[in-house]
Amino acid sequence: MSIGIVGLGYVGLPLAVTFAEAGEQVIGVDVDHARVQALSAGRSPIEDVADERLQDVLASCRFTTRTVELHEAEAILVCVPTPLTRNREPDLGPLLAASRALADVVRRDQVIVLESTTFPGTTREHLVPLLEESGLRAGEDFALAFSPERVDPGRTDYTLRTTPKVVGGLTPACTDRAAAIYSRICDHVVPVSTPEVAELSKLLENIFRSVNIALVNELARLADRMDIDIWEVIEAAATKPYGFTRFDPGPGMGGHCLPVDPFYLSWKAREYDLSAEFIELAGKVNQSQPYFCVEKVERMLNEAGKPVRGSRILILGVSYKAGVGDMRESPALKIIELLRARGGDVVYHDPHVPELAEHGLRGLGLDEGLEGADLAVIVTAHPNVDHGRVVERAPLVLDLRGTTRHLGVPQL
Ligand SMILES: NC(=O)c1ccc[n+]([C@@H]2O[C@H](COP(=O)([O-])OP(=O)(O)OC[C@H]3O[C@@H](n4cnc5c(N)ncnc54)[C@H](O)[C@@H]3O)[C@@H](O)[C@H]2O)c1
Repeated sequence: MSIGIVGLGYVGLPLAVTFAEAGEQVIGVDVDHARVQALSAGRSPIEDVADERLQDVLASCRFTTRTVELHEAEAILVCVPTPLTRNREPDLGPLLAASRALADVVRRDQVIVLESTTFPGTTREHLVPLLEESGLRAGEDFALAFSPERVDPGRTDYTLRTTPKVVGGLTPACTDRAAAIYSRICDHVVPVSTPEVAELSKLLENIFRSVNIALVNELARLADRMDIDIWEVIEAAATKPYGFTRFDPGPGMGGHCLPVDPFYLSWKAREYDLSAEFIELAGKVNQSQPYFCVEKVERMLNEAGKPVRGSRILILGVSYKAGVGDMRESPALKIIELLRARGGDVVYHDPHVPELAEHGLRGLGLDEGLEGADLAVIVTAHPNVDHGRVVERAPLVLDLRGTTRHLGVPQL
């Protein structure tokens, strides 16, 4: 018996490799031919899964584009993307396509689990009818559950094994079956009563972060006007041993989860005549944060007697998060776009991102980037970048992450 994984991205691939490491046979399905070919050759497109780690379990993994190969699997875990449409509404396209394909392969006694982040009701309202086109009944002939992924790209202190896994099945028996599968790779499985509880718990985690980041970003703007050091404020508040969780301001929100997932819930809330104000407000504040950062760049250059037009501006770190090359929804892209629209000569350095093809930019070495720069902006503070050197060599530095505060550099 094997474990099937549908969607081999940031979520699905680590899951596949972890199951293989636990001694399971894995069948990984993805619609992307190139990805399947690379994985079959032992090349991982995900930084969190090193090539060597993938190669060590390759004998236990079969990667394919053919969903039909999942027919024999004991369990099928669905990890396809859940993006937004251009109008910022949930795009269930990949999820529905994957579910339709599964209706042709699902068999009696299989366990199917959705891991993709989505609004409450997706498993019951969307997956059940599609999967039941197979002629089998969900919760009776096969088990169905939702279990949100909690992967955090770049994080090493918690792994799939040590991060508790929430599981909510269509029936108590579905929960038990899904929990039994996950307990092979997770030390702590957390059963909940329904898929809806599991779906909403994941959104609560993401919305909690989004709202708190927005709050501290807004306070950073106010503190800037009031000429108060927001970082000192946060450090002081964080000495409270209870009732306070530290969040830091930054250039805005990036990654696949926080800028996208909360809007799945605000969309669903409308069906219940409710407007999810916190979600919308947090989205608004976080989306406008790059504009505030660019205003700070303008002010700093202005004080030095320079306009943005024609100034050479070095952006340090363009991925959305330190230590990884993930560009999805990165606020650096907005900052670059705004600076270029004002005539800035923008260059960048990021050891994780060799080029920004859509902006026609290639990453420069640190020294090359610093050459002739009027201002350096630390947008994402990668651990392997020598920020001390940046502070030494650049005439002006703006740090949006608080990493060089101890060096007296102007911060966000
Ligand atoms: N990236 C994260 O940190 C993270 C964390 C927690 C939860 N999630 C959630 O997990 C889900 C997957 O996210 P991800 O970051 O792994 O996405 P991803 O884009 O990295 O990977 C998704 C993969 O699914 C494949 N795919 C698309 N449609 C498919 C289909 N119909 N059949 C088979 N494969 C298909 C794509 O080719 C891609 O390889 C999303 O719902 C996301 O919100 C992501």
